[in-house]
Amino acid sequence: MMSPIISSDRHLAEVLASFDQSTNARTTEILRSLVTHLHSFVTETGLTREEWMAGIDFLTATGRATTEHRQEFILLSDTLGVSMLVEMVNQHASDGATEPTVFGPFYLPNAPRFAMGQSIAPEGTTSEEIVISGAVRTSNGEPLSNALLEVWQVMPNGLYDVQDQSIEGVSHRGIFRTGDDGRYEFRTTAPVDYQIPTDGPVGEMLRVTGRSSWRPAHIHFMVSHPGFRTVITHVFDENSPCLENDAVFGVRDSLVVEFTTVGASFDFVLDFDS
Ligand code: BEZ
Ligand code: FE
Repeated sequence: MMSPIISSDRHLAEVLASFDQSTNARTTEILRSLVTHLHSFVTETGLTREEWMAGIDFLTATGRATTEHRQEFILLSDTLGVSMLVEMVNQHASDGATEPTVFGPFYLPNAPRFAMGQSIAPEGTTSEEIVISGAVRTSNGEPLSNALLEVWQVMPNGLYDVQDQSIEGVSHRGIFRTGDDGRYEFRTTAPVDYQIPTDGPVGEMLRVTGRSSWRPAHIHFMVSHPGFRTVITHVFDENSPCLENDAVFGVRDSLVVEFTTVGASFDFVLDFDS
């Protein structure tokens, strides 16, 4: 006798129960939730076998495009808004503390250290330099001296140094410390709008769905100090035409400032570590 067709609800319950013996409560919670959402996704969309295989092929291509120097899964997470959502869910900053945004794939630890006022552009750059300055403060408004500012941005050609084979060493990145008054200052070339890598499956997804692959001009900052919560964020140029449709959904109003031909100013506020 044929066994009766089981309902999708009973099927889901059976899969969820398969985790009952797990001894890691958090892993189990995450897997149960993931399975529940995946099952709903399949039933809600009435997913065909061909569509499911296309999805598996897409994820396989995403894995194949990932190398030591390129993380296509992070790009996928970024472009689906998941990276920014993880930031939002984990954001415990008090009102007034600097808002975080996506980390992006182009941070390098151990960038060169510079003294106050120095330039992160290579010597002899032919592009105009601007001055970026401001202060780092606590959420009580006190200046934070000796805070570490790690800075990175695109070069005038729209590429990060790590993407440009012609660059030896590093360019447009550096580490600064605030002075006794909590202030920082450095020189650089103006950041330009930037196209995320489009030669992999994520680029294909953006093309097929008619989405923009551009990010508005920004400078990345990671600001830290012992006893305070590190903030990873960007400062965006308010003149960028891409502010309204950032490919990775990272723009926050509080991070958008005026960039003039002279430069831009931005103050960071760090929350006490609790
Ligand atoms: C960036 O800001 O450099 C970036 C962020 C997410 C994906 C790709 C690039
Ligand atoms: Fe960037």
